[in-house]
Amino acid sequence: MNYLVTGATGGFGTAALKSLQALVPQENIYALARSAEKAADLTAAGVNVRLADYNQPAELKAAFAGIDRLLFVSGAPGNRQQEHQNVVDAAKAAGVSYIAYTSFADAQNSVSALAADHAYTEKAIEAAGIPHTFLRNNWYLENELPLIGAALQSGEFVHAGGAGKTGWALRREYAEVGAKAIAGSDYPEILELSGTPVTYQTLVTAVEEATGKTLAVKDANQKDFEASLVAAGLPAPVAEIFYGFQADIKAGVLDVTSDDFAKALGRPLTSLAEGVKELLQ
Ligand SMILES: NC(=O)c1ccc[n+]([C@@H]2O[C@H](COP(=O)([O-])OP(=O)(O)OC[C@H]3O[C@@H](n4cnc5c(N)ncnc54)[C@H](OP(=O)(O)O)[C@@H]3O)[C@@H](O)[C@H]2O)c1
Repeated sequence: MNYLVTGATGGFGTAALKSLQALVPQENIYALARSAEKAADLTAAGVNVRLADYNQPAELKAAFAGIDRLLFVSGAPGNRQQEHQNVVDAAKAAGVSYIAYTSFADAQNSVSALAADHAYTEKAIEAAGIPHTFLRNNWYLENELPLIGAALQSGEFVHAGGAGKTGWALRREYAEVGAKAIAGSDYPEILELSGTPVTYQTLVTAVEEATGKTLAVKDANQKDFEASLVAAGLPAPVAEIFYGFQADIKAGVLDVTSDDFAKALGRPLTSLAEGVKELLQ
């Protein structure tokens, strides 16, 4: 049985490979990267590296030869539907027998602009008839690091998420479920991987617990929110992208309640305060 993790040079893929190494023999683990240069650390660590870009169907087909179980890590927004279709088509052509795909919270019903590509990809995998698990990942706690960093500089945690709730969890925990999925866990076709949904106010309390600092909290408008990130050193276009995420959170698109995550992990999730502490180390 051979296992391949795509997006292996990214944060999720790196964590997933680490988890996978504890579950299956090293010689059966393959990693997909876009360039040998980026994959140099993986090669040096003895991981079998295959090279392909999601934009290159022929490369993908060759990269998936002999692979049984695929952890398909979603790419970056842009031309993602075509890229993901290429991945699914190549997996089908190569005879891949199972795909775990990193999707989005409540993907088929979500009103988030981010969800459309994931809803599309889920349908493409279904249409290909490949047995699968959709890992409907909620929000990485890591996504909040710029806001947390800005707050620790200024003493005020500025967000624009209103009373919207988010099911934050550590990226490595989402990735561990991805690794367990391809290693052969008996998971259902859909896992809604969400931490307990909480507001920014609760996240700030966790940051205070993790750091021992007292922070003011401001639920800001777009202008003030973006200004706070720019003041902390983020480029204005990036601050604007972050505002888009805040609008999603305010609209409740990440407010998904499910016990799938702890069940799939086989243990409770790391608490927010412990998670923040880990990320700030
Ligand atoms: N749920 C959340 O909170 C959340 C947050 C951020 C992202 N995401 C999604 O989850 C995915 C994994 O997260 P992450 O933190 O690991 O992101 P990341 O660190 O940006 O890693 C993305 C990985 O995908 C690879 N990739 C991107 N486009 C590709 C293409 N056209 N062909 C082949 N490989 C491609 C990248 O390769 P290179 O190293 O060559 O660029 C990288 O290995 C992201 O790509 C995004 O779709 C989810």
